[in-house]
Amino acid sequence: MTTGRGIVVRSCGMAVPDKILTNDDLAATLDTSDTWIAERTGIRERHIGGTTSSLAAQAGRQALERAGLGPEDIDALVLATTTPDALVPATASTVQQLLGLRNVGALNINAACSGFIFGLVVSAGLAATGTDRILLVGADTLSRITDWDDRTIAVLVGDGAGAVVIEAVEGPGNLLSHNLQADGSLRHLLSCDLGGYLYMNGKEIFRSAVRVVVESAEHALRDAGLGVDDIAMFVPHQANLRIIQAACQRLGIPEDKTAVVIDRYGNTSSASIPLALDDVVSTGRVRDGDLVLFSGFGGGMSWASAVLRWGA
Ligand code: UT7
Repeated sequence: MTTGRGIVVRSCGMAVPDKILTNDDLAATLDTSDTWIAERTGIRERHIGGTTSSLAAQAGRQALERAGLGPEDIDALVLATTTPDALVPATASTVQQLLGLRNVGALNINAACSGFIFGLVVSAGLAATGTDRILLVGADTLSRITDWDDRTIAVLVGDGAGAVVIEAVEGPGNLLSHNLQADGSLRHLLSCDLGGYLYMNGKEIFRSAVRVVVESAEHALRDAGLGVDDIAMFVPHQANLRIIQAACQRLGIPEDKTAVVIDRYGNTSSASIPLALDDVVSTGRVRDGDLVLFSGFGGGMSWASAVLRWGA
């Protein structure tokens, strides 16, 4: 057991299926329109297909390559997902095999769309207790639990994965603060029974989402001893552009400091934050040393925020 260790994030990676479904494609079979979807959600297209394990492995491989590491260098795998390939075995085991990792600990965690931030904190706990390098992946294939005849859900979802390579360091490291929360009394707002389809009370979630994102982001900033102006990039969960805009307005975060990929990917649940992170890192909008604020919310309800200094 090792204590007094923090984490740094060395690299990120992403994967989405090849198949693109546009709003017009959906409007061909559903009573909806490109205008309605774009105006109400900000989504223009999404990628659909693959399995959670295959997308997770693809994103993980890219993160490893970018860190200049091989599968033998990883000491644990954490997979945040709401849509495992099967109930048993844990999809993390499949990803461990697909990536050719050693027989390291591999586990799934499910905190719905907040999963990546929960995974970041779980990874920090593993690092603090002796694990040197962790591959953290957020991956989901919501398309597999979507009723494609239900326009209230079908227009929102997409599939994808995002990954980061995390390394333990002596001292406090770069995860400066975090705030994880859940309220099971709100579980009826967003649910999916075993073998069933996603159900969502969109209006109620919208109301709660803006409030909890703002509160938890402020909480994480306060715990890190930072003000909103210290943040170089806000990376929120991508559920609805209007939720992102409302939260940014209340937090006082300008548009050019906010990661937005919902137009291209839709709501990809656990993959949404790492996909948005990969976008701002790979386009040079986030550089080593920059402070990044993450905030997510989803089924549970769960919500979470964290402040991370980017880079190793
Ligand atoms: O990942 C975390 C969890 N999910 C979320 O964060 C989602 C949060 N909620 C939302 O993003 C929004 O509430 C939605 C995008 C789901 C819905 O947008 P809204 O502005 O809240 O629309 P609404 O539910 O109030 O519906 C407005 C109208 C209704 O028609 P009437 O009653 O005004 O005639 C709906 O029947 O839009 C209708 N409608 C649609 N029309 C075209 C609902 N879905 C659609 C659709 N296409 N896909």
